[in-house]
Amino acid sequence: MARSRFGSCESQVQLCALNRRPQQKDNSDLLRKVELRRRICGEVKWANVFLAGSGFGQMFRHAWRDKARYTLALDTNSRKVDELRFHFPNVDARLADFSTFTDWPSGRRFQIGDFDTFGELYPGISHFFAKAPWRTPFYVVVGDSGPLAFKRMGHVPHQLRRGKSRTCFLGARDLDSYMERLVWPWWERIAATHGLDIVCRAWLANKEKTVAYYALKLDA
Ligand SMILES: C[S@@+](CC[C@H](N)C(=O)[O-])C[C@H]1O[C@@H](n2cnc3c(N)ncnc32)[C@H](O)[C@@H]1O
Repeated sequence: MARSRFGSCESQVQLCALNRRPQQKDNSDLLRKVELRRRICGEVKWANVFLAGSGFGQMFRHAWRDKARYTLALDTNSRKVDELRFHFPNVDARLADFSTFTDWPSGRRFQIGDFDTFGELYPGISHFFAKAPWRTPFYVVVGDSGPLAFKRMGHVPHQLRRGKSRTCFLGARDLDSYMERLVWPWWERIAATHGLDIVCRAWLANKEKTVAYYALKLDA
């Protein structure tokens, strides 16, 4: 297997090639998603990993496989769960909705949470922090299609609005505004609720600037 500057997984060239595959539909930004994960979690080794929206396991294959001690992978699509189980029998893959999941494994504390379901994310992430076993430092990676929803329907995710009936969000092109005014404040509230500090954070936008991919490191 080739080496890249992010580790011993596939090289950038191989990832670019994967990104161009016609069947690569729900992960068209594979390269940048993998890069974000490898950068924020470069120092992590042998972690318990929680995947919400594990899909066919692209993020597991390219970003987490070498770091994972135990992986719980949830998806609501049975075909994807079956395929993930087939390719990665060591992953604890379940057909389940991450926003209501309760069957947490005993004796495992998650150190990485990868929330890649798009759609309504924030209630499920709150649920995870309130109910799941996790430990610090905790690394979060999120694929947030809120800007796409704004572009299509003119609203931002309900939970980010914090009770305001209207949010003066400048528009889908202005992802800085989305992150600064809605997303980071939401994480500051979550961090404060659980006695955590946001140690570092990073984000990227996809080509059309309709999805924000971001990551945080949280510590006590
Ligand atoms: C962008 S794809 C994820 C790609 C995946 N992370 C990978 O590495 O290949 C989004 C996935 O989230 C799943 N999904 C959507 N809502 C979900 C929910 N509430 N709970 C669990 N999975 C969900 C979809 O079935 C879909 O497979």
